[in-house]
Amino acid sequence: MSLLEAVRINVVYEPFRGAEIHSVRDVSLRIEHGEIVGLVGESGCGKSTLAYALTKMLHSPARFVSGKIFFKGEDITDLSGENLRLHRRKSFALVLQSGMNALNPVISIEDHFVDVMRAYEKVKFKDIRSKAELLLKSVHLPQYTLERYPHELSGGMRQRVAIALALALDPQLVIFDEPTTALDVLAQEAVIATIRELQHSFGFSALLVSHDLGLVLDATDRVMVMYAGRVVENQNSSTMYKHAQHPYTKALLDCYADPRAEEVKLGGIPGSPPDLSSHIDGCSFQPRCNLAEAQCSLNEPPLYRSEFGHVACFVASQKTKENLNE
Ligand SMILES: Nc1ncnc2c1ncn2[C@@H]1O[C@H](COP(=O)(O)OP(=O)(O)O)[C@@H](O)[C@H]1O
Ligand SMILES: [Mg+2]
Repeated sequence: MSLLEAVRINVVYEPFRGAEIHSVRDVSLRIEHGEIVGLVGESGCGKSTLAYALTKMLHSPARFVSGKIFFKGEDITDLSGENLRLHRRKSFALVLQSGMNALNPVISIEDHFVDVMRAYEKVKFKDIRSKAELLLKSVHLPQYTLERYPHELSGGMRQRVAIALALALDPQLVIFDEPTTALDVLAQEAVIATIRELQHSFGFSALLVSHDLGLVLDATDRVMVMYAGRVVENQNSSTMYKHAQHPYTKALLDCYADPRAEEVKLGGIPGSPPDLSSHIDGCSFQPRCNLAEAQCSLNEPPLYRSEFGHVACFVASQKTKENLNE
């Protein structure tokens, strides 16, 4: 049984003015026990909205339209109130890009651990202290960090504190939403490497959300690529670099700049993702795709099973026509 299973999730935003924005469109996915899954795509593709939907943290103007979410086989789609709070406490943790800025400036790092660990139950100070020390060591921060205040730490250190705090309640699934975007490139790589180590030590499952496919490829077991609210490719990370199937995935790989490379190639993807408030005819990537054929502007491609995972592209899947939905 998967740790998390989502079936045909749809989420819209209902802005005060203007048309509904269909930000997550029919997304189905599974996250297995102990797996690190990457979720990548350009800004505005629906990654954060999906992450919030999976952890039941959507709030207005977002509306969960349809779909089912199972956690360890239990249907949590309609959980609310106290049941949802209890479920969250033992299941999920979320680390945000802004996590490092969410630290309270007037309390020490140690007191952050006290607040998090005593939020739900009475815990002895000595147990909090030893847990905090273990977690700080795991994220490669010195023990004296506990006595410091957030403003005394660098951005990279604060983000490591935010990660340590997220792990304080032993979550089974940790969602990292662009956890390194505010950091410089080398600090980003170091934090990503730490996430991988933490997963080995603590055994949680993780969803690592990023706009940078190159950055997450080494740290994940599998990557889902999201475009215009849909998952368009799903493949093991070990094969993706060589065998990317979707033209969008290939374009994302071309954007990847290796920070250690002598010559940095910075390719952008021409054009931009479609407006999700209007109906999309055919494949949503077709206007930017140099492989597009006539059929691509007529119908939206389903997610086909392919030799290397799943891909929502008529052209890439021409050889393997086994539709997942069949
Ligand atoms: N608070 C909001 N109100 C209205 N629309 C929103 C809001 N947040 C996100 N959206 C819309 O949902 C789409 C997906 O957003 P988001 O999930 O944040 O994407 P990503 O995390 O991939 O950058 C965006 O293109 C945007 O149009
Ligand atoms: Mg986001």
